[in-house]
Amino acid sequence: MKLQSRHLLGLEGMSKEDITLILDTAVSFKEILERPIKKVPPLQGKTIVNLFFESSTRTRISFELAERRLSADVVNFAASGSSVSKGETLKDTARNIEAMKIDMVVIRHASSGAPHFLTRVVKANVINAGDGAHEHPTQALLDMMTLREKHGSLEGLRICIVGDIVHSRVALSNIYGLKTMGAEISVCGPATLIPRNIESLGVKVYHRLEEVIPHVDALNVLRIQLERQKSGLFPSLREYHRYFGVTKEKVDRALMPITIMHPGPINRDVELSADLADGPHSVILEQVTNGEAIRMSVLYLLGTSN
Ligand code: CP
Repeated sequence: MKLQSRHLLGLEGMSKEDITLILDTAVSFKEILERPIKKVPPLQGKTIVNLFFESSTRTRISFELAERRLSADVVNFAASGSSVSKGETLKDTARNIEAMKIDMVVIRHASSGAPHFLTRVVKANVINAGDGAHEHPTQALLDMMTLREKHGSLEGLRICIVGDIVHSRVALSNIYGLKTMGAEISVCGPATLIPRNIESLGVKVYHRLEEVIPHVDALNVLRIQLERQKSGLFPSLREYHRYFGVTKEKVDRALMPITIMHPGPINRDVELSADLADGPHSVILEQVTNGEAIRMSVLYLLGTSN
């Protein structure tokens, strides 16, 4: 089985069959992560470079672990300490690295569209590990895997994405992917943090958590980007927590337990209370484990189809 594209740039337009193939393949790789020896040979002889122009903990480490577990040779690049600090462009950086005979590139970049640009200047397979406020496809895939594990199916599942939607690549990839898989998506947050016309993507918009909580199976709580506070998009962290912070008191009003998700890093007791983050309905650490399986799946499917 093969994916339709030789790159993973985003979930916009990805078919239900391709998403299902990635999720099903990840289930097999998750079994490998339970073994004493967590290494298999399919990417032996392939060289993968992780180009991270923005900071990352989960995505960078899990891509590297996934690559090593598939027996690839791995090179890590961080913009700080590289010739980017001397003014080298993305195009030159990528073409010079490719001249060293690499097969796949994983890129995180602050500019939306940077991975798409790379596909025009290098021959390697390109995987988007987060581009600006555009897409973060492997995060949405690991979120879908976690929801499918917990609830059995994504069809008809009701998920609300809470918080800073306008600056979030996680939100956009989740909306594209989950809609394709038949889930019902809503977003909730202050009007200043919800993009205009988001309803055109087929999502409902709420501005009060109390209104949405009775109607959802899962809340995907996004990090409030503290740097946004200076731009006046919300009055204070205390106000934000009061109205949009997901707390035990608010979710306890639901008739059924709600699955609590967060892509990390968490601002504890700002967007999500610490007791919920560590509580019985939190799947936050399962998301991290599934991230490794999803990245193995994507690397395997792209790296073995050339
Ligand atoms: N969820 C996520 O992308 O986390 P990192 O920024 O730590 O990679």
